[in-house]
Amino acid sequence: MSRVLFRFLACALCLASLPSFAQSAYDEPWRPQYHFTPAKNFMNDPNGLVFYKGEYHLFYQYNPEGSVWGHMSWGHAVSDDMLHWKHLPVAIPEAVGKYMIYSGSVVIDRNNVSGLCVVSEGDPSCLLAIFTAAAKDAQGKEHQDQHLAYSNDRGRTWTEYSGNPIADLDKPDFRDPKVFWYEPQKKWVMVAVLADERQLELFDSKDLKHWKLESTFGPAGDSEGQWECPDLFELSIEGTSETKWVLAVNRNPGAPAGGTGTRYLLGSFDGQKFTADETPTLWADYGKDFYATHRFSSMPAGDDRTVWMGWIGNWQYANKEPTVLWRGAQSLPRELHLRNVAGQLRMVQTPIAETEKLRNEKLLDTGSISVDEANQRLKKAAVHGELLEVEIEFQSASTGTMGVRLRKGPQQETLVGFSPSEKSAFIDRTHSGEAAFSKDFAGRHLAPVLNAKERKLHIYLDRSSVEAFVNGGEAVLTDRIYPSEESKEIEVFWDSPQAKVVSLRIWSLRSVWQGQKAHE
Ligand code: FRU
Repeated sequence: MSRVLFRFLACALCLASLPSFAQSAYDEPWRPQYHFTPAKNFMNDPNGLVFYKGEYHLFYQYNPEGSVWGHMSWGHAVSDDMLHWKHLPVAIPEAVGKYMIYSGSVVIDRNNVSGLCVVSEGDPSCLLAIFTAAAKDAQGKEHQDQHLAYSNDRGRTWTEYSGNPIADLDKPDFRDPKVFWYEPQKKWVMVAVLADERQLELFDSKDLKHWKLESTFGPAGDSEGQWECPDLFELSIEGTSETKWVLAVNRNPGAPAGGTGTRYLLGSFDGQKFTADETPTLWADYGKDFYATHRFSSMPAGDDRTVWMGWIGNWQYANKEPTVLWRGAQSLPRELHLRNVAGQLRMVQTPIAETEKLRNEKLLDTGSISVDEANQRLKKAAVHGELLEVEIEFQSASTGTMGVRLRKGPQQETLVGFSPSEKSAFIDRTHSGEAAFSKDFAGRHLAPVLNAKERKLHIYLDRSSVEAFVNGGEAVLTDRIYPSEESKEIEVFWDSPQAKVVSLRIWSLRSVWQGQKAHE
């Protein structure tokens, strides 16, 4: 190493320990300002989402020792609104030399059916984590089974149950348990996968310690790749009194934009067995960076929303993203519904209502206006930025490619729009900025639009991500972007500049990280 390079590195390291540097590191050019990121090191899947005693918990796949995948442990953060998170120490560290802690879920054992809770002040409840212990022997042979741990101090410290494993099929790829309460039969259900066989394993239990395998499901038309992070939940169909069960399976690889993505199936569940309806293959998100979804296993009393989050990442390049000292972000929490869209049932996702709290200043609010006029107004008001919420509606059933250019600079732009000729909405990050770290990064990603009459985009732009909710969440596109700091313009585009946009509203958004330290 040259002396100059050594001095530079040594200086960077010494600076990293100074509070002022640590503070500003949460303000780095690519540091998301209202999406959760770890202060330092590598993060992938959200785990153990639960609301308990006034706090939302986010556990997550975390490498405490470096900024690439490894030493998997459960990182931990808490929040009172699912948006402003407080970092806590690692909750469940890898069992060094024995196994890593892979993805899983957390439930509240309200009545101490496990016998693992310590009754305090008349409250018999505690938190139980059910996760995969992923072991590898000296010959490299893998073994994955499901473990239980309990916490009697609101998730701060965890003790492994002495009777582990609670589920073992003697397999190398048995993982990602999601546990939920099934009220009609007053029992707990666990769904996990045999990843390489693309098969769901369904168990049930009365005490969360003894589990019985009830049925299997899959591969449901998938002939290659893996199934990961499954979930099974019931959603109501908007405008009706009906419900349907949704089976979410995360696919690695095989997603429409390439690499990893979240597939879902609709069907019914009788407490033992999931039966799928005959539907085409459906995807929760058509961008390239939404994976390993995880749903809150309990919400505050009286709040019957179903809310999930996904990892803004893709296994094609997760270890190479250019943030270097930390890697990985979580999506906005999204509320889930089923909707009949043009005669077809679809899962729709919308940002949780709390997200409106992030609005800072309304930068533009206009009714019907031509594209040219809209751009003049944007210029005049000097509307630009890296943290923006944009709501735009184009004339119904309009033709020609239309949308908005975000993070526009001399050489850069990220496009979000509609392409009616392709019956799709899209994000195009071909020229979004830094992309050389992976041949799989640059590109244009298409989401099918069923209702050709509607042309509405609701976009959340953060420092290095775009989430686009199309036509009220009928389709969603999530992409990471790495633009230069100076690319901050926003512009409306349409092949016919005299055509009218119906409405355009833009807000600047607040950072949730004020005062947070990083890289300590
Ligand atoms: C999904 C996944 C899971 C596994 C975890 C390991 O991204 O591969 O199947 O539990 O990540 O970090």
